[in-house]
Amino acid sequence: AAAWLASQAAELKTRMEQAEYQLYEYKRKQHILSVSLEDRQNIISQRLQDLNQTLNKVQAERIALEARRQKILDIKEHRLALDAVDKVISNPLIQQLKANYVKLKEEHTELSTKYLPDHPKMKVVENKLKLLQRSINREIDNVLESLEAEYQVKLDSEKRLRRELERVKAEAQELNKKEIEYNRLKRVADNYAALYQHILKRQKEATLAAHQETNNVYKLDSAVEPLRPVYPRVKLNLLLAMVVGLLGGIGLAFFLEYLDNTVKTQEDVERQLGVPFLGLIPTIKPEEKEDIDDATPLRDNFLITHPKSSVAECCRTVRTNILFMSPENPPRRILVTSAGPQEGKSTVVINLGITMAQSGSSVLLIDTDMRRPRLHKSFDMKKPEGISSVILGEVGLDEAIVGTEVEKLDILPCGPIPPNPTELFHTERFAQLLETLSSKYDRLIFDSPPVMMVADPLILSHSMDGVIMVVKGASTSRDVVKRALKQLEDVKARVLGVVINDLDLDNKQYGYYYYRRYGYYYGEKESDAASTG
Ligand SMILES: Nc1ncnc2c1ncn2[C@@H]1O[C@H](COP(=O)(O)OP(=O)(O)O)[C@@H](O)[C@H]1O
Ligand SMILES: [Mg+2]
Repeated sequence: AAAWLASQAAELKTRMEQAEYQLYEYKRKQHILSVSLEDRQNIISQRLQDLNQTLNKVQAERIALEARRQKILDIKEHRLALDAVDKVISNPLIQQLKANYVKLKEEHTELSTKYLPDHPKMKVVENKLKLLQRSINREIDNVLESLEAEYQVKLDSEKRLRRELERVKAEAQELNKKEIEYNRLKRVADNYAALYQHILKRQKEATLAAHQETNNVYKLDSAVEPLRPVYPRVKLNLLLAMVVGLLGGIGLAFFLEYLDNTVKTQEDVERQLGVPFLGLIPTIKPEEKEDIDDATPLRDNFLITHPKSSVAECCRTVRTNILFMSPENPPRRILVTSAGPQEGKSTVVINLGITMAQSGSSVLLIDTDMRRPRLHKSFDMKKPEGISSVILGEVGLDEAIVGTEVEKLDILPCGPIPPNPTELFHTERFAQLLETLSSKYDRLIFDSPPVMMVADPLILSHSMDGVIMVVKGASTSRDVVKRALKQLEDVKARVLGVVINDLDLDNKQYGYYYYRRYGYYYGEKESDAASTG
């Protein structure tokens, strides 16, 4: 036996050394001797993140440039009023030319009262006018050209970044492959090492045994019959069952957590969906009233009845986040939408409207959800008119807009639903209506149907400064939201971010998360109870 063990040991030793050598060779060839695989992975993922960020920024800038360019082209092609020029091009030379043009035009009108059209004086002025118009056009062309150049630069750097991103991604994949092979080799080497140790031990025992006398056998003690059954060992089995059950339970909990891919936290929004987190609106729980079968109106008026509640607090945070996304130029036309139905779009529209109005802005809520309109219900409006009747020219705007008990908050309800609602948003009258409303209110907030069901929100998003995606917390799956965001992205909508709605902070799991992170505390405050009396 000793000889056999010895030969085994020798063979294992060479095998082990071979495996270790292979591992070493692999590391050397793949250049992973100095830096550990894990460090490399960290470096690459950091680089990926950086690249992604820069790319997003450049892309956004490029899109902005594109939009500006389009606007200038529009002005050129449609010979829009020169007033529009000011908004797009703040070029002193053009402004000067324009001022001259206006002055000359006045002169022209004045002359025309005295002279006939083909009087030489009239001709002179007309010629001058033509010349001026031409210079203005030339200047606009210049602006356009430099814009074009800037745009090309951005486009180039975007392309470059994309290429780099692809390269780094490929590198990351390569590294993953390497890791698999590395782990395999390491396992082999470890196995041989363990086996070798084992054999060495046995070999030692065998040598010891060989030195001992083996034939002196005598009886020391007689066997005693045990008092208790040796088998089954009840206590041990019970203990084992408990440990296994406990471990299994914990494992199951982790597994369920892993299966749960709903959106619940800021991290879910930022990491998995890749858009900003605008805030959270907890589950609204109005006081119990038994004779009511639908508490929706109670919930819709909750901010009015509970201005100091934590729900109101959360809404104010959402408002601040939206306005501070671009402090110089906060969005004026805001579209609220979601991936699926019943996620709380209308609720968010109402709450955001109340909060913004309370902070002093004049706000109009517009019900452009022609599929399930409900703003008129929550404010208990009886009139049948609304935006559809205004667009169709049946009533004036003032007749359709209704005030609310909140100061500075007005509502433009939906009105009768036409057979093909989507068409409404394509009309010229709708565009005009938006312009008029923009000049009357600080903020327009639009309710809409779900992105995954109809095209309305995608079409509406064109006329908006920003789109808010409402996600029902701990309910809607990430993939669905991702797909909805993708659709918005495809039509180049400006997504401001995600609001998680209707998350029950009484739930231990994520209630604790929000409490720990942001100090959100659910439950009404004392002062609130006093104020509502
Ligand atoms: N944060 C919330 N807490 C409690 N209930 C909510 C909340 N948000 C929405 N709801 C309720 O869910 C239902 C659907 O909300 P709604 O705003 O009409 O969704 P959508 O407009 O997306 O279809 C309504 O009954 C509403 O009162
Ligand atoms: Mg709705």
